[in-house]
Amino acid sequence: MRIAIAGGHGKIALLTAGLLTRRGDEVLALTRNLEHAAEIEAAGATAVEADLETMDAAALAAVIQGSDAVIFAAGAGPNSGIPRKDAVDRGGAVLLADAASQAGIRRYLLVSSMGVESVRGGATPEGVGEVFVAYLRAKLAAEDDLRARDLDWTVLRPGSLTDDPAAGTVQLSPDAPRGAVPRADVAAVLVALLDEPRSAGTVLQLIGGPTPVAEAVQAAVLAGSA
Ligand SMILES: NC(=O)c1ccc[n+]([C@@H]2O[C@H](COP(=O)([O-])OP(=O)(O)OC[C@H]3O[C@@H](n4cnc5c(N)ncnc54)[C@H](OP(=O)(O)O)[C@@H]3O)[C@@H](O)[C@H]2O)c1
Repeated sequence: MRIAIAGGHGKIALLTAGLLTRRGDEVLALTRNLEHAAEIEAAGATAVEADLETMDAAALAAVIQGSDAVIFAAGAGPNSGIPRKDAVDRGGAVLLADAASQAGIRRYLLVSSMGVESVRGGATPEGVGEVFVAYLRAKLAAEDDLRARDLDWTVLRPGSLTDDPAAGTVQLSPDAPRGAVPRADVAAVLVALLDEPRSAGTVLQLIGGPTPVAEAVQAAVLAGSA
């Protein structure tokens, strides 16, 4: 498979690229800054310049053309303000969906976030700062945009991310409660989702837990089709 990852220099993206390339898949890591190329190439991926805040869908489609799937793993990051939450976390995900459609790529995995349902319908959760509310709104808008499209999408909502080593086991379901999860396990779940086309059309929450990743993906798919 050939997989294009938006936010290709991000932590989850690099871990996912490493898993994919080590088993022989080809990864196109879309980065806004080619100074990161060496780090990306160390993960076995090919770095391609793509700034989601400045390019249009046609230009991005030309970059990802020929890929079998796309993964959105970009994010404006913890030090960004409200405008960039909308520009990257919503706008970047929508741009990637537009580009995937134009390039004829049906498979799309969106790394979203636990907690987005708390802002549905314009709700403002108590005790949450305005920048984080804007982040959750941007993620929810990206999800809703993707879910309305005729694409083979899967939405993955991880809990709080850690840099702990992979546990190899997780809790994955539409209603998994809040919790933490290592980025390395998020990467393993993304790879397992790519391998399971029946996960298309599912929205899954992810935290650390007791179930081996492959088994967790199979159980989530079976639950979704029940
Ligand atoms: N932190 C949490 O607890 C948490 C929980 C749930 C979900 N998430 C989500 O998980 C995803 C990945 O997390 P992570 O820790 O791997 O994030 P990360 O390391 O911060 O990676 C995000 C990447 O997005 C890139 N990016 C920012 N603006 C961009 C633009 N305009 N065009 C192209 N790329 C751009 C950044 O590029 P540079 O490398 O150039 O900065 C960075 O490499 C994010 O969507 C995040 O919101 C996070």
